[in-house]
Amino acid sequence: MRNVSADTLTQSFLDYMSDDTDERLRFVLTKLATHLHDFVRETDLTHDEWRKGLALLYEAGQISTPERNEFVLFSDVFGLSSLVDMVNSSEEATPSSVLGPFHVRGAPDVPVGGDLKKDNEGAAVVFGGVVKSTDGTPIEGAVLEIWQTAENGLYSGQDEAQPDYNFYACMATKADGRYLFSTVRPAPYTVPDDGPVGEMLHATGRDPWRPSHLHFIITANGHRTLVTEIFPSDDPYLDRDAVFGVREKLIIEYQESSDISALPDDLVIKPTIEAPFFTVGFDFTLSPK
Ligand code: BEZ
Ligand code: FE
Repeated sequence: MRNVSADTLTQSFLDYMSDDTDERLRFVLTKLATHLHDFVRETDLTHDEWRKGLALLYEAGQISTPERNEFVLFSDVFGLSSLVDMVNSSEEATPSSVLGPFHVRGAPDVPVGGDLKKDNEGAAVVFGGVVKSTDGTPIEGAVLEIWQTAENGLYSGQDEAQPDYNFYACMATKADGRYLFSTVRPAPYTVPDDGPVGEMLHATGRDPWRPSHLHFIITANGHRTLVTEIFPSDDPYLDRDAVFGVREKLIIEYQESSDISALPDDLVIKPTIEAPFFTVGFDFTLSPK
């Protein structure tokens, strides 16, 4: 088309795609171009605003490294990461939540009942439950990758004072689907706000905080992998998570207890645990593939 106008540009874009374009690619690009063009028409976007947006994307590229991907963070704080999770999740399974940038491969294997607290500061938390399928059958050999911050709100990779893989573990469930470990309460922390994402958050008066959480990736034969997080019910940031990761079903209560005899016998720190401690119970439900 040689006489393109604001009204016909979207159609021209669509017409330029060749007939043999992959069907799904054509569909997604058609929607994307339509929404982007509508966005410009509906906002009467100025040249200055358009240049500012491109400058933010350029800065996102400049600040990104293999460890820090500012584009993923943009996706997180716009709610895109969570929305992709939501449209792909099943009602019967445990809801998924954002992966975040602090997952690392190679976490040490820890048996059911094992300890992540070690010499770390903080009251002990005994965290356990069952991994099951949507029909209620417990899943043996489901593998939980678990990671969280220390009490100072830092992951071990961000903090030279912590040993490698501090609060990182990989645990396979027993025949009854059980998992169990001891740890400490993680702490709330801020997403990186010294780059273009931070500029947007600050300009709109938004919090960079995330409520404290434990991360889990759970894989099991014949089931869809679950990437999720568990949040404590008393966290002050539950209603303003910068990355929209909180779901009602992922909020749990930390129960304070002093009854050491009631703790499971396979809890490795049972003989040395000091009261008071906290207990947390959470069952994960995975969807069959
Ligand atoms: C996290 O939970 O580790 C996280 C998620 C999104 C952005 C930054 C951190
Ligand atoms: Fe996190």
